[in-house]
Amino acid sequence: MCGIIGVTGRSDAVECILGGLKRLEYRGYDSAGVVTADANDLDVVKRAGKLENLVRALDDNPLASQVGIGHTRWATHGEPNDRNAHPHTDPSGRVAVVHNGILENYQELKASLGDVRFASDTDSEVAAHLAARELERMDEPDLLLAVRRVVAQLRGAYSICFVAVDDPDTIVVAKHEAPLIVAHADGVGYCASDVAALIDHTRDVAALLDGQIARITPDGVDVMDVDGTPVEPHRFHVDWDLDAAEKQGYDHFMLKEIHEQPQAVADTLLDRLNAPPDGGPARLHLDEMRIDEHELARIDKVFILACGTSLHAGMIGKLAIEHWAGIPVDVEVASEFRYRDPIVDPHTLVIAISQSGETIDTIAAASHGRDQRAPVIALCNVVGSTLAREADGVLYTHAGPEIAVASTKAFTTQIVGCLLIGLYLAQVRGRMYASETEDILTRLQQIPAAIEQTLLLDGEVRELAERYQDTNYTMFIGRHAGLPIAMEGALKLKEISYLHAEAFPAGEMKHGPIALIEPGSLVVALAPAGHVFGKMVSNIQEVRARGASVLAIGTDGSTADLKEHAHHVLTLPEPPNELAGSVLSVIPLQLFSYHIATLRGEDVDQPRNLAKTVTVE
Ligand code: G6P
Repeated sequence: MCGIIGVTGRSDAVECILGGLKRLEYRGYDSAGVVTADANDLDVVKRAGKLENLVRALDDNPLASQVGIGHTRWATHGEPNDRNAHPHTDPSGRVAVVHNGILENYQELKASLGDVRFASDTDSEVAAHLAARELERMDEPDLLLAVRRVVAQLRGAYSICFVAVDDPDTIVVAKHEAPLIVAHADGVGYCASDVAALIDHTRDVAALLDGQIARITPDGVDVMDVDGTPVEPHRFHVDWDLDAAEKQGYDHFMLKEIHEQPQAVADTLLDRLNAPPDGGPARLHLDEMRIDEHELARIDKVFILACGTSLHAGMIGKLAIEHWAGIPVDVEVASEFRYRDPIVDPHTLVIAISQSGETIDTIAAASHGRDQRAPVIALCNVVGSTLAREADGVLYTHAGPEIAVASTKAFTTQIVGCLLIGLYLAQVRGRMYASETEDILTRLQQIPAAIEQTLLLDGEVRELAERYQDTNYTMFIGRHAGLPIAMEGALKLKEISYLHAEAFPAGEMKHGPIALIEPGSLVVALAPAGHVFGKMVSNIQEVRARGASVLAIGTDGSTADLKEHAHHVLTLPEPPNELAGSVLSVIPLQLFSYHIATLRGEDVDQPRNLAKTVTVE
């Protein structure tokens, strides 16, 4: 995700900021910028691309000030270019802002400003305009008060930092659902999106809690709530080394990313309903939809194309689209689709799923569809990636950068994205009342809390991993939404532990795979509550009777049968609906592979022979 560092009270503020941004590079970003403040003006320098581009621009145009804020941006709204890089200012250059997160109501807020020109396509810029408007209204301009008033209007997720010419020694920051650290040491005030940026300067820091606002000056840090009442942040001492700080205390990026899933899913669900100005029912929208709704309403066939983990998310997409929108869907490996003669015409919709948006097979398969005049929707995590640029419509999974090669948070957000596309197609085809769509979306908001609860299984999963770490062959079985999760579980285990693992539709076992079962085999059975639960219980009995050890994944309230037949049962919380349950059932499998791989001493984040983004065929 984006990175922030702010400094006040150092003559070398700009160098300190650049050092901090360097420390945040591991988070991934597509542009970087810095603002310095003094009583006369604000100076902003920002560049698309790597930090070197910003450093070169600062060499040509050096900034000197004791106060500044730097930012590395991971695009969510608007292409990754110079214009959309942070910081953003109001048109008069009085206030500058950097922001991590997504402002859910930015369009509403923009409209409230009337006829004002915006210099970027971002959601964040509006906060600078709003703060400047508040300052203008004051006889004695006060940045803290202005920010408190602005924050009271913001909806969504943010860690946000302001400087203004009115109060040039001061940085005012606010936090809601995106991390923000503040600190004060040796007459210098700091803020940052993560401790990695501050570790060279101080190890005594405070994490703001949701709803907290802080005024940072060279004299100290005051933390308050939106009404100005003093409150306590969470103070702590950092004793991690730098490597651990980048991973925020986790041993590996993969584990960190597994634990980021509640936030990633919440961000993907954020800002999805638009209330039309004429007061009609709220409508679900995708991020960049350039396909006419009438055209989509006439779609009579869908191809979902993807590779690897993204393909498994696509299999859930098929279930969602067929169930809600009533359109037949084929899911296909992108590298196969492009070399055959699929029956595609302008009434065929292609949905291409790719975390990176740069996987060559997926890009080529999507253009194979487009060549035959099929509209293309991309489900992507990287804004402005090739696939997103070339598609006719885009839905972004706001998972933030995924660094570990084995995909985790990108996968769960892709599933959520697939559910949103299913609902969207149902909406344009008039298959659902607006209130139904809204109701489903509201219930989907329960997923992040349910993921949090599922992550509590970690201790149990680790014990199982210790027990089965030397199992040479593991079979994963599932039905319906459990099948793609079984496939993803087997893929995760192969990718990072190098152990043999395969997945089968549970109903196919007796047509061949069951011959592989012998005493000592491990079978992981996806058996969450739902319409195929009873069938899964029968399949579990079949493999157990042939000597397999069975690990079943079930749902709270319906595990009695599982406990009778499986050797181990991991119990998931009840999901908002059967398809959304797949987001929960993959989590113990991610943790299982992770623990097996670490117990076996494998390089979890960079497994052998694999690349994060495969840009060759
Ligand atoms: C590589 C990665 C996988 C990923 C696949 C597709 O094989 O190792 O984790 O699922 O590419 O990547 P994409 O970026 O297109 O989702």
